Amino acid sequence: MSVYILGIESSCDETAASVSADGRTILSDVVASQADEHRKFGGVVPELASRRHCENILHTVDSALSRAGVTLADIDAVAVTYAPGLIGALLVGTSFAKGLAMAADKPLVPVHHIAGHIASNYIAHPDLEPPYLCLVASGGHTMLVRVMGYTEYEVIGRTHDDAAGEAFDKCARVLGFPYPGGVHIDRAARRGDRHAYKLPIPHTENELDFSFSGLKTAVINLAHNAEQKGEEIDKDGLAASFEHTAAKILTDKTMAAAKMYGYKTVAVAGGVSANTGVRQALEKACERNGYRFCMPPLSLCGDNGSMIACQGYYDFLAGKRADESLNAVATLSL
Ligand code: KG4
Ligand code: ZN
Repeated sequence: MSVYILGIESSCDETAASVSADGRTILSDVVASQADEHRKFGGVVPELASRRHCENILHTVDSALSRAGVTLADIDAVAVTYAPGLIGALLVGTSFAKGLAMAADKPLVPVHHIAGHIASNYIAHPDLEPPYLCLVASGGHTMLVRVMGYTEYEVIGRTHDDAAGEAFDKCARVLGFPYPGGVHIDRAARRGDRHAYKLPIPHTENELDFSFSGLKTAVINLAHNAEQKGEEIDKDGLAASFEHTAAKILTDKTMAAAKMYGYKTVAVAGGVSANTGVRQALEKACERNGYRFCMPPLSLCGDNGSMIACQGYYDFLAGKRADESLNAVATLSL
């Protein structure tokens, strides 16, 4: 008999739900994205996000169950993202999941959002098992994680300032691209010369920590200076140079960590793992060093319910449970 987990995700601007079978098989994946609405404001408006989650969550979960061909009675547990993220957004998912679990008399499993991102690789790579090293690069986080077991982690590097995705989005904004800008930098970079601009590689005291604010500021200054002088900026070239530098920072630190801890398997996860330059740089570096490299398919890089349904399975097996006192937490380390 398979173990069916319903996964619910609402930590930022996607209301998402999915049903997994035995963790690795995804039976449905439904995402209601609000990106179009937040675009008008140049970023996620928390209050608006919470309201849209309230409106979308019922039919998103309903669709996930029906597309999977199951009913609530078939589900073994309800897994939900409870941290970290926008507090109002998280509260919609956790409150809904609590109600659902109580009403259907099913176990409730609290899932950490970053653990979910890491688990997206289990779906794409059925033979991937801990231990391995994972680079997590998203809009809110950038960290190097030792994945020691399915529910056991050690964070060995983190950002001192901006997350990688945040730097992508802020640079995209100054280049005139709409929110979320990461994907627009990616497209422009494909047309541009990555050596068009020389950009700084920030230094961090701990070799495995990240810093993106200096790189971001350099891009913003280049764009502003050109504007003040009435000069045309090479937008594609700047996008390509920024992406190339960001990918180099992420890749160099990941390789340093793999070497330091003796890992032979390296994975990447989070929204920025959708980036073409980042994927290629990591893939090449892993090949050079003889490491196995795993990345999620593009559809599972951003926030989704499948990663929560997958990680929810492993958290369920590990005995993680919550009751009606479960609260959402905005900031929580892995
Ligand atoms: O994981 P995610 O969907 O949400 C968070 O948990 O933060 O990550 C969103 C981030 C945004 O900053 C977005 O611009 C970035 O991932 N992103 C990209 C690409 N696709 C999404 N950044 C660079 N290139 C992309 N193709
Ligand atoms: Zn995320």
